[in-house]
Amino acid sequence: MSREKVLVTAALPYANGPIHLGHLSGAYLPADIYVRYKRLNGDDIVFIGGSDEHGVPITISADKEGVKPKEIIDRYHNLNKEAFEKFGMSFDNYSRTSLPIHHATGQEFFLEFYKRNVLVEKKSLQFYDEKAKMFLPDRYVEGTCPNCGYEEARSDECENCGALYQPTELKNPKSKITGENPVLKETSHWYFPLGRYQKRLEEYINEMNRQYGWKENVLNYCRGWFKDGLGDRAITRDLDWGIKVPLDSNEGKVLYVWFEAVLGYISSTKEWAINKGDENLWRKYWQDTNTKYVPFIGKDNIVFHSIIFPAFLMAWNDGEREKYVLPQNIPANEFLNFEGKKFSKSRNWGIDVIDFLKLFPADPLRYTLAANLPETRDTDFYWKEFQLRNNSELADILGNFINRTLTFVNKHFSGEVPSKGKLDDIDTEMINLIAEYPAKVSKLFESYKIRDGVLEAMNLARAGNKYFNDSEPWKSVKQDKEKCASTLNICLQAIYTLAELLSPVIPFSSDKIFSMLNAEITEWHKCGGENLVPGHKLGKVEIIFPKIEDEVIEKQMQQLNKTAIKEEPKQDEQITFDDFMKVQLKVAEVLSAEKLEKSEKLLKLKVRIGNEERQIIAGIAKSYKPEDLLNKKVVVVANLKPAKLMGMESQGMILAAEDEKGGLKILSADDLVKSGARVK
Ligand code: MF3
Ligand code: ZN
Repeated sequence: MSREKVLVTAALPYANGPIHLGHLSGAYLPADIYVRYKRLNGDDIVFIGGSDEHGVPITISADKEGVKPKEIIDRYHNLNKEAFEKFGMSFDNYSRTSLPIHHATGQEFFLEFYKRNVLVEKKSLQFYDEKAKMFLPDRYVEGTCPNCGYEEARSDECENCGALYQPTELKNPKSKITGENPVLKETSHWYFPLGRYQKRLEEYINEMNRQYGWKENVLNYCRGWFKDGLGDRAITRDLDWGIKVPLDSNEGKVLYVWFEAVLGYISSTKEWAINKGDENLWRKYWQDTNTKYVPFIGKDNIVFHSIIFPAFLMAWNDGEREKYVLPQNIPANEFLNFEGKKFSKSRNWGIDVIDFLKLFPADPLRYTLAANLPETRDTDFYWKEFQLRNNSELADILGNFINRTLTFVNKHFSGEVPSKGKLDDIDTEMINLIAEYPAKVSKLFESYKIRDGVLEAMNLARAGNKYFNDSEPWKSVKQDKEKCASTLNICLQAIYTLAELLSPVIPFSSDKIFSMLNAEITEWHKCGGENLVPGHKLGKVEIIFPKIEDEVIEKQMQQLNKTAIKEEPKQDEQITFDDFMKVQLKVAEVLSAEKLEKSEKLLKLKVRIGNEERQIIAGIAKSYKPEDLLNKKVVVVANLKPAKLMGMESQGMILAAEDEKGGLKILSADDLVKSGARVK
């Protein structure tokens, strides 16, 4: 078997709060299972992680608490690092982006692009707080919505009415830092011209998909981005906290966090190499075309890893220096929900990893999460299911098979592996089945079907119990000791195989099983054979999976509901027919549509309602191309007070509904309906 050289990274969590179970399911657990399996498979693997320690949310948390950002990142870096260790994450290195080695890496990439004229400089107007003497990131400004008058509107978007506008249109803007009215001041930033790489990115993704089969969810996200067209993306910010832009002319600017965070994978690998005593060792992975690079992430990070990061690496590779490898596959997961709802800090819904592991050991959690990985769709964690997976699968199936076999061998074969004698059909069948398993599970893991791989491995424990029952060793021990010896030998080999196949998912318990067998783990492809020789003395038997009692689980569920902050269930206010008739919904025909240069979200439409022509500015540019709309019959609110969006008058509103992915679908009217017809 040829050894693969594999570089695995897992998304760097923000050092701005504790990680919860959803993070584990999205990226970390599948990455760790894959890595542990690959190591046993004899592949040459390095597994990289770390904390993402820059970005505005961190400075906002620091301001709220009245401490320095450093205090926030130290707290959560250490907390998350500890949570990962307790959970059994087997990172080769867990770094942090505040380290000098990372700052140097971020600056090196920026300078390389800058010197080769890859970057574009653009000027724009930005809010500036004269009292705090700083430019304000969008999240630091609020004001009155120019459309609906909502007073806590964000600088470019109103939460209340959904209007989008330029920061210049926001009324009575206030700095969240000093409460003063900020002024608009010109600033210039560096942009990465993603559009120039679009064609190559599409080719790259198609080619990787052709060779290695990418996941549909990942391909769909990419297609969506390509359809909208890639534009320039700012890679600098006017901010204090972050990596300084390494140009004299750029005082007070830092690299935008998404520019440098992905490079954190590289700097973490550099740190690992230094600790290994060979500072160039990282190049053997990042800068060798034989490397298979696989970043594990959750769906919210897809665009950064499938489009933006590869574009950076392509831009670097266009130069003269050593070239980097691009991701070969991006096995991104969907989300895990908690008891039917999204994890939410503000609603106090969910549980952090560190708190969970104070209550229960890591392995039952790892197994439950693995059995439910959101690989193709969002899934849920339920306390009741956690209890069931532990009690009915880990304890009753796996634990029971191990326990009954070892107890039997202790009692009737003085704790030594009996030798096989004559074999019946069911014995040979079982031997063959065990032998097939490593390749079977391997195939699933290799194609990132981690969940299926884990569930398949568990099936061997089911088969083991059935074999034990069908063989009836409690009878043969009295009538045919040789047959009984065969049965127990085969059961012991199966336990060995199980301990190995399941070691990537339940590593702590697997260690215990091996010590109960008094044996060492072997290479993956050997674990389905005869690994325990007759006469081998077994170790001490212990219970590996204690049951979880009902009270324990009920307590957790009660606590969750007690501390959850309920959203006010807004009684849907009822309206009268007359109220409804105040809204004039009418069918309109789209005469023309064009994209607005300054906005990614808005389209300018001319529509005809009966005999009347209107201009409507609609926030649908992310879901529709102008040409898709021509001659379409749509439904509009015809008597909406005109509003200004981006300085242009919008005389009405188009009705649209949100689809599953947050895109918009316009409500369209039948061709036979005349424009101007009332909808009621
Ligand atoms: N900090 C981001 C998150 O938690 C992930 C960053 S991945 C990286 O969503 F590669 F950019 F670091
Ligand atoms: Zn508004």
